[in-house]
Amino acid sequence: MINRKVSSDYDKFISKVEKIFSVTPADVKKIIDNFHQEMRRGLAGRGCSLKMIPSFVDRPAGSEAGRCLALDLGGTNSRVLAARLDGKGNARVFAVSKFVVSAALMRGAGEALFDFIAGCVREFLAKNRISLRKKYQLAFTFSFPVEQTGLAAGKLIIWTKGFSASGVEGKDVVRLLDDALWRSGLKNIEVVALANDTVGTLVTKSYSDRSCDMGVILGTGTNACYVEKVSNILKMKSRGNRRSMIINMEWGNFSKLRRCHVDRELDRASGNPGRQYLEKMVSGMYLGEITRRVVFHMISKGVFLGEGFERAYSEEYSFRTEDMSLVAAGGMPQRDLSADERKALKKICDIVSLRSARIAGGAIAAVLLWMDKELRKRHTVAIDGSLFEKYPGFEKNIKNVFRELFGRRSKKIKLEMAKDGSGAGAAVIAAWAQINHISTRRLHA
Ligand code: GLC
Repeated sequence: MINRKVSSDYDKFISKVEKIFSVTPADVKKIIDNFHQEMRRGLAGRGCSLKMIPSFVDRPAGSEAGRCLALDLGGTNSRVLAARLDGKGNARVFAVSKFVVSAALMRGAGEALFDFIAGCVREFLAKNRISLRKKYQLAFTFSFPVEQTGLAAGKLIIWTKGFSASGVEGKDVVRLLDDALWRSGLKNIEVVALANDTVGTLVTKSYSDRSCDMGVILGTGTNACYVEKVSNILKMKSRGNRRSMIINMEWGNFSKLRRCHVDRELDRASGNPGRQYLEKMVSGMYLGEITRRVVFHMISKGVFLGEGFERAYSEEYSFRTEDMSLVAAGGMPQRDLSADERKALKKICDIVSLRSARIAGGAIAAVLLWMDKELRKRHTVAIDGSLFEKYPGFEKNIKNVFRELFGRRSKKIKLEMAKDGSGAGAAVIAAWAQINHISTRRLHA
């Protein structure tokens, strides 16, 4: 039985951390106001931290039908799937394969990364005995900030989530994929749609639920999209005769937040300093690292007395958000902790995850209020991502923010898990484009 105690400064230290990491109801209101200001600027094409990217996609009617392949690249896994839409709101994924994207691919040459994902498609087709001779349509979910110029065209603005593959920023990612598919001999595959994961998530859910008007990812990264009136998208030159369009906000880059020195240190040491402030305070890629930094601080101040601790918590990103989930659920990533140390570690995890959930709650509320000032209608928010799905109490903490803001009206907001919805969503988008005669283009005609 290990009997190490925390020092007498423990309570003082914890209340200080609690204060620094708190998101009070007044802070939430400020987040909402700042979001509205930045959304307005972003839609008008003025400089701000929200990119507010038109997706060229609207919500589906639910009657879209057909089959499509989908390829998903957005984190440490790449997925290929085949989906069938029955035209009655059901999108059924009937085959799916997952591939690990190594750190070397994430940070190496762009061509190698695209050759790898084209190879994933090839392997998927072979495994499922799908003939290479037939023609197939493929929808591409690419979960990074892309300036879309059409349904199947768009340039990567900047990498996020630890990716830095060379020769991709500023390039049309559909063209890069097309070229890679050709190189790997897949000449019969036509890339017909390009979508962000948030857009895929919203589209999948709204295929069967008409009150779904927002998609959110709370996973390795975080981002959201929602349905906007085209007349509000002032920066779009030709608005055509469409009434609404989904906007990919890229809210991970939202910067008007109260940050503390741990956030600043983490940002400085990151691969993309000065960017993705909200993502760095909220998403799964960073929460473990924030916790580790706070714990390390505790050790250096002598609040934690454990000897093994210093070594265990000195390496960057060695404590992961999955470890936090484990701690929050009552487990421990290490065995050699005393009861006091376990309690302290759990407390820090609670504080860091609570801040994340409250910022996410404020941000979701801001978008819903933007669409519906008085919150008169019902809104389904489609959410995907392991943080939302697996972190104990995360959803409850988001809902508490809604309750504080809206009281009983908060019941109008439904948070719905849309697990792995982004891939199937891209397939729905491809079918939607066909029905609506939205042009997609083929590069190697
Ligand atoms: C990052 C990406 C964004 C994506 C999000 C969730 O923030 O920039 O495009 O939607 O992660 O995967």
